[in-house]
Amino acid sequence: MSTRYFDCIIIGAGASGLMCAASAGQRGRSVLVVDHANKVGKKILMSGGGRCNFTNYFVEAENYLSNNPHFCISALRRFSQHDFLALVHKHQLEYEEREHGQLFCRHSSRDILNILLKECQEVGVRIETRCKIEQIVQLEGDKEPRFQLQTSTGPLACHSLVIATGGPSIPTLGASGFGYQIAEQFGLPVVPRQAALVPFTLKGELLARAQALSGIAVPVEVSCRGQHFREALLFTHKGFSGPAILQISNYWQVGDAIEINFLPGHALDELLIGWQQEGSKAELKTLLGRHLPKRLVNAWLEESTATRALAEKPIAQLSKADIAALSTHFQHWRFVPAGTEGYKTAEVTRGGVDTDAISSKTFETKQVAGLYFIGEVLDVTGWLGGYNFQWAWASGYCAGQYV
Ligand code: FDA
Repeated sequence: MSTRYFDCIIIGAGASGLMCAASAGQRGRSVLVVDHANKVGKKILMSGGGRCNFTNYFVEAENYLSNNPHFCISALRRFSQHDFLALVHKHQLEYEEREHGQLFCRHSSRDILNILLKECQEVGVRIETRCKIEQIVQLEGDKEPRFQLQTSTGPLACHSLVIATGGPSIPTLGASGFGYQIAEQFGLPVVPRQAALVPFTLKGELLARAQALSGIAVPVEVSCRGQHFREALLFTHKGFSGPAILQISNYWQVGDAIEINFLPGHALDELLIGWQQEGSKAELKTLLGRHLPKRLVNAWLEESTATRALAEKPIAQLSKADIAALSTHFQHWRFVPAGTEGYKTAEVTRGGVDTDAISSKTFETKQVAGLYFIGEVLDVTGWLGGYNFQWAWASGYCAGQYV
């Protein structure tokens, strides 16, 4: 079989790969995108509960985690959320804003994938699925091509090779750690990975308590390692989930305690003193039930002998120390997760190819001319809220200007 040559070959037909392909194609480059999966853009289709939270009105470097927090700044500026919105408007996609500036498709995630495929088609990008990469060889010297690829669909060659294979979360969607293998093949450092934007698992009595409350969601403030998020917590059969938990999981390391404030926006000590001053005869459980689901109040007051004793005292008899203890219990409640649900449910992978090895302008590796890494495979992880797609669009677009 004869070798097919392209100016640019992109491995991975996901969010960043398709964006990069369109961007490079617009410059007149011949582009081939290959993917081992049977369909392109599977994570896009699955995202945002089928409505793809494709970007956010408020994108800052602070919304991303990386060993080098400055790495993402340049690309996010050169291809911003407004640039992606311009594309969305060009294709007349209907979208809606939800809380925290999150932008979702009004109809279906497929609309976003269709935009990318149309942009690629307009500039003659070739896309091939079910293509397994068997070997990548960098050719010696300054001659063309710079890379040769052995694949299940025949030999390929290119000037620029872009790795856009994402992270290993949700392997059933075609996700793999292939990008890290390529990095290792070329001697590039890889920052240790862990599942992120992922629910926490619990064990023992706390697990039983979460299971008993499974399905209940409450607005909370969660904190860990100096980060705070005010969003909903969801009790599940395995532990804690919901946006608040997914957000804080990005920052959590094994063994860390997480703090939860079940009454964000209130000061429980002031509430208790107010109820005392009113001369309230109601039970503590009833009064707390004005602000929290009753089943949650009961379960939390059952936690220990000390909390049970407080629950039984008439409000008027609560001492200053009792009030402080109750405030701590509901507003600074701490627990150590047993772990996370791991890559099978994680939305993203934290860590990845070390950004120190990559140019923040071109996304080319500093060591290997013509080799580029973009998207989630890099050590750049966004918050929940459209930030990970925005990173895929920005890094894909910017690399596409240089490949
Ligand atoms: P992406 O995963 O999109 O693409 C990688 C591609 O590489 C895939 O097509 C894969 O098949 C291919 N590939 C992998 N290994 C290969 C190999 N060995 N050979 C060839 N091809 C290979 N983010 C967000 O901002 N808003 C949201 O609403 C959501 N929702 C969401 C839901 C769910 C369920 C998940 C799992 C994730 C999200 N995300 C999200 C995260 C978002 O999907 C993710 O960050 C981006 O898709 C990353 O884009 P990439 O292009 O880097 O990888």
